[in-house]
Amino acid sequence: MNKDMNKQIVVVGSLNMDMVVQVDRRPGIGETILGRRFFTSPGGKGANQAYAAARLGGSVFMVGKTGADMFGEQLIRHLKEAGVQTEGIAVCEEESSGVAFITIDAQGENNIIVVPGANHRLTAEDIRQNEARIQSCGLLVVQLEIPMEAVLEAVRLAHHHRVPVLLDPAPACPLPDELLGMVHYITPNESEMQQLTGKKVHDPETAFRAAEELLSRGVGIVLAKLGENGVAVLSRSERFHMPGFRVNAVDTTAAGDTFAGALAVALTEGKSLSEAVRFANAASALSVTRYGAQSSMPDRSETEAFLNEHAGGMNP
Ligand code: RIB
Repeated sequence: MNKDMNKQIVVVGSLNMDMVVQVDRRPGIGETILGRRFFTSPGGKGANQAYAAARLGGSVFMVGKTGADMFGEQLIRHLKEAGVQTEGIAVCEEESSGVAFITIDAQGENNIIVVPGANHRLTAEDIRQNEARIQSCGLLVVQLEIPMEAVLEAVRLAHHHRVPVLLDPAPACPLPDELLGMVHYITPNESEMQQLTGKKVHDPETAFRAAEELLSRGVGIVLAKLGENGVAVLSRSERFHMPGFRVNAVDTTAAGDTFAGALAVALTEGKSLSEAVRFANAASALSVTRYGAQSSMPDRSETEAFLNEHAGGMNP
């Protein structure tokens, strides 16, 4: 197997056009308020992770589905411009492209409603058509905005071909042990950890306790994202907490996707787990300083400059 091919990242997941409204506060039931600003931005957890990885220098192939419409064309074009190989993205005539309705409040926190559209037409057969790519890649990255049958098929194929799997369990849903047993890296945030384990997570200690349960269900390495409090990492041989970088956050949309894409790049480059987490923390911190999903993601040189500036300490 050629070395460059083995470094390739295959992302299987969703593509959405994000409709974003900035608000001072969210309206109550039956209330009308004025928003501050509206913009559209390419998004979708799968596409975001593919885009983040490509911007950071990864060789990325994406598998997904859009509608035969203007949004679908724009979403695919945006990925191509970042260097993502998009031949694995099928176009579906029966459904429109996925869309997401997002509000961002004055604190930079978001609410998201996703209408999956064509994303929910991604089938196990679509995944099998990309088996050769999955077989020869260095890492498979999946999330949960596509049907579970597609997620399971992708992970089964990767497992069969001894390709490691990174699962970002978002949006959270109950996961079969069969799936967890084939996952090498899992990257839940606090609420996803709680939904997966039933245990409250609010700091590194509680994250380690919940992570024990995911390890006992077969996961290889848990990377629990604790927002600005960094990441708690637990495997059968390592346990550490990597503090986050404090930045002025204006929009946290896709911070987790940036983390997953950056982590994928660092891992396929052979960085150690702690180096990879620090790199992913830096990219994710930069992304929250700007608006939008893909529009907020940093490139490689910006991320390295940020890491060099903060070389003296993890948490300036
Ligand atoms: O993770 C952020 C993403 O979630 C947005 O881009 C939106 O499309 C939803 O999928």
